[in-house]
Amino acid sequence: MTRTNAKGAPALPLNTILSGDCIEVMNSLPEASVDLIFADPPYNLQLKGQLHRPDNSQVDAVDDHWDQFDSFAAYDQFTKAWLKAARRLLKPNGAIWVIGSYHNIFRVGASLQNEGYWILNDVVWRKSNPMPNFRGKRLTNAHETMIWASKSEGAKYTFNYEALKALNEGVQMRSDWVLPICTGHERLKDENGDKAHPTQKPESLLHRVLVGSTNPGDVVLDPFFGTGTTGAVAKMLGRDFIGIEREEAYRKVAEKRISRVRKFDREALQVSTSKRAEPRVPFGQLVERGMLRPGEELFSMNNRYKAKVRADGTLIGGEVKGSIHQVGAALEGAPSCNGWTYWCFKRDGQTVPIDVLRQQIRSEMRQN
Ligand SMILES: C[S@@+](CC[C@H](N)C(=O)[O-])C[C@H]1O[C@@H](n2cnc3c(N)ncnc32)[C@H](O)[C@@H]1O
Repeated sequence: MTRTNAKGAPALPLNTILSGDCIEVMNSLPEASVDLIFADPPYNLQLKGQLHRPDNSQVDAVDDHWDQFDSFAAYDQFTKAWLKAARRLLKPNGAIWVIGSYHNIFRVGASLQNEGYWILNDVVWRKSNPMPNFRGKRLTNAHETMIWASKSEGAKYTFNYEALKALNEGVQMRSDWVLPICTGHERLKDENGDKAHPTQKPESLLHRVLVGSTNPGDVVLDPFFGTGTTGAVAKMLGRDFIGIEREEAYRKVAEKRISRVRKFDREALQVSTSKRAEPRVPFGQLVERGMLRPGEELFSMNNRYKAKVRADGTLIGGEVKGSIHQVGAALEGAPSCNGWTYWCFKRDGQTVPIDVLRQQIRSEMRQN
């Protein structure tokens, strides 16, 4: 599927895996067209020799050619180039997540700042089932770090605060995420039964990233697609993806994997939203639109107080004049009051909270 840009020209190769070097491919895509980038770049592990378990079996470590760089300087140059290409693709309010280990993430963090990104958080993905340190010479390496950054300082990046809080059973989501590494049925295997990719990330990680920092219909690009974890989760969650991967074998694995994924239904894709994210409706608009008439009486929820609506959208109750919130607070002798839930009007013998009228206006706004 291709989307058209503002001028009507075909633009984005949505829901496809592009082959080639990610820097060249990203430079060929239209500027400011992507909402989120998730990147899991080469770690530059610099492994020296084979690694064995105590039973002498060989550890399947990341020693692939795509992870080899001649020097830190070569890695830095590569990082700078792909981060620059990625930033060009982001919409002004777009954001990026980059995942890495102690081998590369500090270098990536510095490059992110040098390229003009604005770091929002670093998230420690604590692995609940890490691989032990077989030689016993260092600590068990039990986490990876993700850096979340907006395109620039002051950008209005997407953050679904309430949705992440809901995922965390009503408690504000923290920056340390305890999730297992990818094992069992989720781990993709090749025809010999070996791991199809050495660094396949768990879907749970991408689920949290995408629910927290994108909305359905957003475009998510992954320049180091591997087995397509980002694409698989994006598809499930009703986001569009663009994957870039240089290795044909990985592209094939990813294509097969994503073709089997089913998108969740529309209702399941709705997430909790912040009340602050709702459009503001001034009380006066209810009066201007004739939903409430000047002179009409409002009643407090507890039925103890009354106030009259005035033509300018203020209330008068006894001696007190002011906004729905001020008059409610003054009558109750309270420091503050949410006038929207405090005041009710009467229709056909029923007592109805004024908030119902505000919701009616908001739902009209959403439809337009
Ligand atoms: C760390 S892995 C990503 C794994 C992926 N997140 C997953 O869950 O399967 C990095 C991938 O980037 C690819 N890659 C490395 N350099 C690349 C480049 N310059 N352009 C495109 N792909 C590249 C590698 O082939 C490898 O599959």
